[in-house]
Amino acid sequence: MTEPLSQPPERAEGDVNLSPRRQQWSQQHLDAATRAILDEDAELFIHQSLSTPCLNALQGSDGIYLEDTQGRKIMDFHGNSVHQVGHGHPRVIAAIKAQLDQLPFCPRRYTNQVAIDLARRLADLAPGDLDKMLFAPGGTSAIGMALKLARYATGRHKTISMWDSFHGASLDAISIGGEALFRKDVGPLLPGTEHIPPPTRGHCLFNCSDEAHSGCIEYLDYVLGMQGDVAALIAEPMRWTTVELPPPGYWNKVRELCDRHGVLLIFDEIPSALGRTGKMFVCEHFAVVPDMLVIGKGLGGGIFPMAALIVRRSLDIVGDRALGHYTHEKSSVGCAAALATLDCLVEERLIEASAELGAHALTRLEAMRERYPVIHEVRGLGLHFGIELRRDGKPASDEADTVLYHSLSQGLSYKVGAGCVLTLCPPMTISRAQLDTALDIVEAGIQSLD
Ligand SMILES: Cc1ncc(COP(=O)(O)O)c(C=O)c1O
Repeated sequence: MTEPLSQPPERAEGDVNLSPRRQQWSQQHLDAATRAILDEDAELFIHQSLSTPCLNALQGSDGIYLEDTQGRKIMDFHGNSVHQVGHGHPRVIAAIKAQLDQLPFCPRRYTNQVAIDLARRLADLAPGDLDKMLFAPGGTSAIGMALKLARYATGRHKTISMWDSFHGASLDAISIGGEALFRKDVGPLLPGTEHIPPPTRGHCLFNCSDEAHSGCIEYLDYVLGMQGDVAALIAEPMRWTTVELPPPGYWNKVRELCDRHGVLLIFDEIPSALGRTGKMFVCEHFAVVPDMLVIGKGLGGGIFPMAALIVRRSLDIVGDRALGHYTHEKSSVGCAAALATLDCLVEERLIEASAELGAHALTRLEAMRERYPVIHEVRGLGLHFGIELRRDGKPASDEADTVLYHSLSQGLSYKVGAGCVLTLCPPMTISRAQLDTALDIVEAGIQSLD
């Protein structure tokens, strides 16, 4: 059995800024003017391992490209997963500009037609009976609303979530999250936030002997039954940072268990929804409808911070309390960006493109895996891929770091998850030729290891 993907604090949600290769890369690639910008940034912003001190400074972006202050174009396969329609899509920009002239802000006491139109559109798109919602200016805030609503709806406070997961960086979100980078040394977290191991395929902690992973399911049944007072189970239907899909049938069984134990099922599709996986929502791949669905990131067209909690109508039960109360709740500008984004996804057939280009890229990555023993596994759904590197069965973090900086030198940016998974998340507007160029760059980096 291979060693599980470990999550020491320095290697989790993304590649951290502590790698010695970063120093070397900066010396080789940055001019004095850029260094001055980075120094000023480092002087003013609080340092943290996933941003400041930053790698480089940008001056522009367009489509699949970022442009740094030295005028170099960088293919953005990272984009913090906000860039389904690419950077600065003209239709999204136009919608934002028009709304800035019309109604730049909407205080909470009032509503506006753009927000209503967006809610109607999301209710029509969302699976099953998910048709009531609240907007929020970020995914973490929407997760917080889901947790509160689950408490009100069930009269219980306990949650079950997965080790190694990420649901945002606030104190409530890191309590249900499972990454040491966010949880370690921070002190007491929310009570009743219990965790189970994720149902990963290749290295299941339960040593499940069957493809259906009955071991994990039996354990979850035991945990829910033994506790008897769990409000909600919250999970990403597809673990984004390490690109891990659950075993076939897993979510259907979890849905049954939740129903049997009276536990609400909350899916966090903040980075993964809106077509990227080849369907509008990830849960549609599994034909499972959660009780609450949380989306965000690309909802604002890669420009405006927008997120939504979408729930069953029967969960609209706290009219005399405050779930969200965020200042930018029904942002007319954000909602205009979101409507334009949904138009782009549908009218430019970007969801179909994700499925088609994704299948093409996965075939190429599979062929690469056969050529390079350091590639342990390639995974993907639609236009989101993970290339897991291992040496002698162990996570090959040093090799992943080498490949990343090699790619950055060639004008391709992406994230490394859990230290050894190269995660490729291109804009869905990418052409096949551009995708092939990026894969050539990744391959050259992997080749350079030998
Ligand atoms: C799965 C998941 N949930 C929640 C969040 C938090 O979203 P936001 O950064 O918009 O608050 C993220 C962000 O990366 C995420 O990937």
